[in-house]
Amino acid sequence: MENNQDLHTTQEEQGFEGNYIENFQGKVKEEEFHPGVIEAWEKINDRQLMFHGSQSSLEITIVSEYILKFRFSHDGYFEDDFSYAIDPDFKFPDTAHAIEEKEDEFIISTDKINCHLNKYFRTKITDKAGNVIVEDEKGYHWKEEKKFGGNVVITTKIAPEKEQYFGLGDKSTRLNLRDGRFELWGTDCYGYTEETDPVYKNIPFYLGLHENIGYGIFMDNSFRTFFDFGWERDGVTSFWAQGGEMRYYFIYGPDLMSVSERYTMLTGTPELPPMWALGYQQSKWSYYPESVVRDLALKFREMEIPCDVIHLDIDYMDGYRCFTWDKTRFPDPAKMIADLNEQGFKIVVIIDPGIKVDKNYFVYQEGMDNDYFCTRMDGPKMKGSVWPGPCYFPDFTNPLVRNWWAGLYKGLMVDDGVAGVWNDMNEPAVFEEGTFPRDVRHDYDGHPCSHRKGHNVYGMQMARSTYEGQKRFLKPQNKRPFTITRSGYAGLQRFASVWTGDNMATWDHLRIANTQCQRLSASGVSFSGSDVGGFIGTPSGELYVRWVQMATFHPFFRTHSSGDHGDKEPWVFEKEYTDIVKKFISFRYQLLPYIYSTFWQYAERGTPMLKSLHMINQNDPESYYREEEFLLGDNILICPMSLEGSIKRGVYLPKGTWYNYWNDEQFKGGKEIQVVASLQEIPFFVKAGAVIPLQPKMQYTNQITYDQLDLLVYNLEGTLKSELYEDSGEGYDYEKGEHSLKTFETSGDKSVLKLSQTIDGDFSPVYQSYKIVFHGINNPTKVMVDNKETKVTKDENGHYYVNAPRDFNQIIVHKNQQP
Ligand code: NOJ
Repeated sequence: MENNQDLHTTQEEQGFEGNYIENFQGKVKEEEFHPGVIEAWEKINDRQLMFHGSQSSLEITIVSEYILKFRFSHDGYFEDDFSYAIDPDFKFPDTAHAIEEKEDEFIISTDKINCHLNKYFRTKITDKAGNVIVEDEKGYHWKEEKKFGGNVVITTKIAPEKEQYFGLGDKSTRLNLRDGRFELWGTDCYGYTEETDPVYKNIPFYLGLHENIGYGIFMDNSFRTFFDFGWERDGVTSFWAQGGEMRYYFIYGPDLMSVSERYTMLTGTPELPPMWALGYQQSKWSYYPESVVRDLALKFREMEIPCDVIHLDIDYMDGYRCFTWDKTRFPDPAKMIADLNEQGFKIVVIIDPGIKVDKNYFVYQEGMDNDYFCTRMDGPKMKGSVWPGPCYFPDFTNPLVRNWWAGLYKGLMVDDGVAGVWNDMNEPAVFEEGTFPRDVRHDYDGHPCSHRKGHNVYGMQMARSTYEGQKRFLKPQNKRPFTITRSGYAGLQRFASVWTGDNMATWDHLRIANTQCQRLSASGVSFSGSDVGGFIGTPSGELYVRWVQMATFHPFFRTHSSGDHGDKEPWVFEKEYTDIVKKFISFRYQLLPYIYSTFWQYAERGTPMLKSLHMINQNDPESYYREEEFLLGDNILICPMSLEGSIKRGVYLPKGTWYNYWNDEQFKGGKEIQVVASLQEIPFFVKAGAVIPLQPKMQYTNQITYDQLDLLVYNLEGTLKSELYEDSGEGYDYEKGEHSLKTFETSGDKSVLKLSQTIDGDFSPVYQSYKIVFHGINNPTKVMVDNKETKVTKDENGHYYVNAPRDFNQIIVHKNQQP
């Protein structure tokens, strides 16, 4: 059946079955075509080179000294070089480069890399010391796509024995992708498992690492794509797309963190979210009617469990018609939302792409009148069933449609006071059929095409238009948008946060959520989280607690559930569990200045918010297989408890010195340690030298103004820098300079610890002073704050602290060297 084929590709369709033959290119497949020999070359402009064979052409763009872009055309004609992934604001840096022609190759060099291009169009990229970073095996080749026209475009690279692979967005499998094959074709995969592939998102970017050299490959092609890391053929990595052009970026590190940052800057970073979006969020399918929502809000406040956001799933709408309210369930949404706002709650509503076929529904009418819906090949509208029954679907790849859709948010955002939008089902998902048939037409921003090319970008373009709509109506109110999307393509992070879809209430899924969020972070999408506790099924109190403990350290923190299997609010488990959940959600609020600063690092530099161990310790082979430990930001390491009934586990600490957050015990990293973590705790370590800001507990962001910010300062011998970024956490005054970046530098030896602060910017925070709390310093003998001896006090937890003005320059702690 046509549609089954849309969901599941046969091996033949995947493009890799066939007989091998020998020709001058070596061992190739019978039906493969290869580019032949380079016969001429030319400079197109000051960063582009073109190489011509008798038919084929290869364009190489020097994007930066670390990034090269390759476009290969089998017939010498190129498509319009249009991309949804690349950030339109990406600034191509001036890059010195050279090209040298030798007898059997060209060498294109920047200050960081050399690209050797042999006369058969094969490349080998080396660093300046001559180490091979990545090298073509067969390089470019293709197979004719007889059914649809065009080609299956393929590139193969040599996969050295010890090379490891990471990335690819939200894949639910193990972190290390070596020996696996993966497919990108956004899929509604309810109740997915570790084996499910493809899943919701389409991020054709991977990171490779061997001999301590990291690099990335980003294949910017929105057709159904495949990545094979030595699965089909030992020692060969290949990637291919079922149509379009072979266009990919090579991104050099050599450290994986820089690869991820460079990829993220190329495909764009989000603007800063409103602070409340980093708070705790509560969702269920569905909270209704209004009284249920009000009771829920009251209960959070009564129980003093912090919460900023309540989500309304599809049942708030009138018959699942987007941009409407069911007025029997929600007679006066604006009043309800205003009242909830008073209590410190924001409302986020779901919006799906399926528009009910209904002549009396304004969105349908406008879509019909203006021809905004997707059509089938011969003209009829694309009809498919989703929640409202038969629906038509806006073509979000058409800029006019995006603009219209953005405008539809006026009612929700301006009249009703909705604060954020959750885009679901945008793979796009269609009941029974899975997704659209392949003949559906898309505008693709003036590059008309079928769903074969439009599918993987559909969700991202929906999220984009949702984001733009919110911004249009919220910015004038000095508020920031907040969007969540289930599907998307590379670069989706410019517009939305994500969640990992319909997971299950199992311990396996706690582990899967962990690896998915780490992988998304490395793939440019840091603002991610999972349905805490599992969407499908009922978690035990213990599982829910362990999940909350992990998600406290995930950028997007929301409990959501299908509602089919009982409630999942923080208080539905026994009191013992509720108390622990409360403790962690409260801690999340204390940690917000740290989390927000980590977000700023991401938005500003593309730095992943969650860092897998291989991202920070790539020269340590142990880190290639460590899945559960992760860093949030620069200085916090977490390792969830992921086995039922367990209160002890091995945790691998990266090199350096680490403090157990709960008891200040110190450990040398670079090895596994055994950690006891009762249900009250999660293995949680802080890097020596770190400065961790903690604000007071509060029930919602900005609930209270406070006089003092705690800075936890961890003793070290050596030096370390920590950052604290601050602005108002809402609105756009930060764009006018209302922000500041504080850099704390700790440097210590056996007898003294120095802490200095530099402040860049003059944002005025709510607090006036710091409480500087020393960790790992036993009974300091003297503390000087800006050259003045200052009283040291011991707090109820046995930690020594001093008070310091918020603009202090330097603190010197004389340590008591007696044990
Ligand atoms: C599927 C989504 O993944 C889930 O989160 C949501 O609750 C349902 N659709 C209903 O809207």
